[in-house]
Amino acid sequence: MKHSVCIVGGCGHIGLPLGIALASAGARVTLLDNSAKRVQSVAEGRMPFLERGADESLAEVLADGSLSVTTDPDAVGGSDAAVVTIGTPVDEFLSPQIRTFDRAMDGILDRMRDGQLLILRSTVFPGVTERLDRRCRERGLRIDVAHCPERIAQGFALEETGSLPQIIGGVTPTATRRASALFSLLGPRLIDIPPVEAELCKLFCNTYRYINFAIANQFYVIANKFGADFARVRSAMTTEYPRMAGFPGAGFAGGPCLLKDTMQLAAFNHNDFVLGQAAMMINEGLPTFLVEQAKQRYDLSTATVAILGMAFKGNNDDPRDSLAYKLRKVLTFEAAKVLCTDPYIQDPSFVPLEAALDEADVVFLGACHDEYRDLSIRKPVVDVFNYLKRPAAQDADSTRTAA
Ligand SMILES: NC(=O)c1ccc[n+]([C@@H]2O[C@H](COP(=O)([O-])OP(=O)(O)OC[C@H]3O[C@@H](n4cnc5c(N)ncnc54)[C@H](O)[C@@H]3O)[C@@H](O)[C@H]2O)c1
Repeated sequence: MKHSVCIVGGCGHIGLPLGIALASAGARVTLLDNSAKRVQSVAEGRMPFLERGADESLAEVLADGSLSVTTDPDAVGGSDAAVVTIGTPVDEFLSPQIRTFDRAMDGILDRMRDGQLLILRSTVFPGVTERLDRRCRERGLRIDVAHCPERIAQGFALEETGSLPQIIGGVTPTATRRASALFSLLGPRLIDIPPVEAELCKLFCNTYRYINFAIANQFYVIANKFGADFARVRSAMTTEYPRMAGFPGAGFAGGPCLLKDTMQLAAFNHNDFVLGQAAMMINEGLPTFLVEQAKQRYDLSTATVAILGMAFKGNNDDPRDSLAYKLRKVLTFEAAKVLCTDPYIQDPSFVPLEAALDEADVVFLGACHDEYRDLSIRKPVVDVFNYLKRPAAQDADSTRTAA
């Protein structure tokens, strides 16, 4: 029998690729989203954001009728399974917004019926899945509940969904069996663990990555304070030295997940998480460090500066929690004029790349888009990522004039 699935938050960065992948694999998928704009875009076959290979696949599953899209919340009751992919942000105290999540879940549970499967795909605070199961039983609702966290890298979801192992955290053996049957459609290996461990898996993955980026960024800061070239040090460290193979480069660790999930883990541990909190200070402090360094070389107060790339990462159109915006904020305070450019983000205040390069006295790299890879910039450049073409004679630090 065909699986029928309603994905709640189905037009988001996680829900939409997952829905396309499941529909392509033979499920009947309904995407439910409360953003009328995104629903209209998907219904018309237009991806609301960049996702490799998704435009063609979306057209196919719409055309063969295996995927439909709606804003009608009653759609939840019409499928065997509901998969929740709504956002799970932290609040101004960096704690999970449990009440907002509960309200959204109440809206879903109100429309569920006995016998359905409920899968939390969103990243959640440890304990949330079992708590949700208890809330269902308090309502007298007999459904199977599981947490199956999403681990794709945004922009590569369709490639990765079919290859990454799926973690299945069912509250009961029946929930695990049913969630496994659904995710086995995607083909990859399934890993069955208790729900709280599935929740920790996801938070540990993102926090580990966030801390690793912070290590590189801390080393970058130390190297620069001593006039050393971090990229050269890193290259020497990692060349033919397998124990350093996973050591990342320096750069902005922004975006909607890494800091948020590190803070979820901190909140879970009653804010006793020195390593995670130190990582936050290093990563979030990087834009200010770059500006302070630049100020030692250039009189920014009279300078026009340009930021190339405002998305939270390269070749992506997502501005959420991008540190390029934090850089813009610091520069707006320090420089005479700040110009921003990004080929993927529509913003009337942004300027074309050529105009930014023409007018700028100093150029900062904000995101490593392919479009910038081969630029020859004849202006002072601040490139924390070491991404842009290097000049023939290299300066000893990252603030340098590119040939
Ligand atoms: N973006 C990533 O790379 C990534 C990776 C792994 C896990 N996650 C996790 O996945 C979850 C979703 O993240 P995202 O980036 O897809 O967020 P998103 O904001 O892109 O998508 C969420 C979608 O849910 C919709 N929505 C919100 N509340 C709703 C409701 N009550 N009913 C119907 N629709 C609703 C929104 O309109 C939006 O389209 C988060 O928990 C996030 O931490 C994200």
